[in-house]
Amino acid sequence: MTQPAIHARLYRGTPRNLVRLAHALQRGELVGVPTETVYGLAANAFDARACRRIFRAKGRPAADPLIVHILALHDLARVAVPNEAALRLARKFWPGPLTLVLPKKPAVPDVVTAGRPSVAVRMPRHSLFRRLLKLSGVPLAAPSANAFGYVSPTTAAHVRAGLGGKIPHILDGGPAAIGLESTIVDLRDPRKPRLLRPGAITRAQLERALRRPVPLAAATRRASPGAQLAPGLLQRHYSPRTPLVLHSRITAGDLRAAGSREAWLFVSRPRKVAGANIRWLDDRGTLRGAARALFGQLRALDAGGFEKIHVELAPGTGLAEAINDRLRRAAARR
Ligand code: TXA
Ligand code: MG
Repeated sequence: MTQPAIHARLYRGTPRNLVRLAHALQRGELVGVPTETVYGLAANAFDARACRRIFRAKGRPAADPLIVHILALHDLARVAVPNEAALRLARKFWPGPLTLVLPKKPAVPDVVTAGRPSVAVRMPRHSLFRRLLKLSGVPLAAPSANAFGYVSPTTAAHVRAGLGGKIPHILDGGPAAIGLESTIVDLRDPRKPRLLRPGAITRAQLERALRRPVPLAAATRRASPGAQLAPGLLQRHYSPRTPLVLHSRITAGDLRAAGSREAWLFVSRPRKVAGANIRWLDDRGTLRGAARALFGQLRALDAGGFEKIHVELAPGTGLAEAINDRLRRAAARR
């Protein structure tokens, strides 16, 4: 059974295109969508068949649940059972880069939650994605729009490069403003919140809002998928093909000693060194700029034919925690 090759079409966010894409979603088709974090691969969250297509297109294991995206706070109760802590975080940080794990409602098909009694929910901020959610009238299940295990896409071109042969539509909403996947918090027990994935909403922000500690879930640190609460958060993830070597600090001596087929990646422009194999994430050295550029730079370096990519970890806490989390996962050996 051979299928005809589909060549994904890129759509600008015109009113007419948004209506067409909303209809496509209602028919059970997949649409690559822009969000403020990374691009997603969306389907009607209430349509089990459409959601199964997401797993097929990405090559994603069926045990790895999807995030459900909603338009407004009153949609939360359509898919999940909220609690006080969840509402507090939702009011403070939605729409935005925060995903809450809560007990699920029966309307959400098992394929979305990989058979779990919980569901991950997020209200995105990107205006085009919000207009699409409004026009389609249903919550949209969407993981990051990359082939399973590869670096998440932060532009429509990244989505087309990875999935263009497998999906029909991609909505182009420009480069992602944040560049890292959302922060995920487990709030099934509101008295024991746990951070499943660090992101642009920092642990300190969550702890201030909840007035209690939000420890990083230890299980996500282990490589064994069976032991994990968040099964998609395998230790090795978000990975380029070129081996990554992490450093807390890269010195001028390191650079001098290295071969020309090794690349060097810094958060900010290093002083007194230059070369085609030396890159940095942000001219001004800000962590926000670094987060926005990280996945694009990893893709570019991966395509550069280098033997190794050396990366200097981000200094500090907050957003640095999220950047370093992605770098550690990307560097973990297969
Ligand atoms: O920023 C984001 O979160 C992006 C955009 C598209 O919204 N999405 C994203 O999705 O990064 P994905 O599938 O690449 O990562 C979602 C992760 C899964 O790997 C899984 O570990 C976790 O969310 N997750 C989903 N449902 C869960 C649940 N019921 N319990 C625990 N973890 C869950
Ligand atoms: Mg992903």
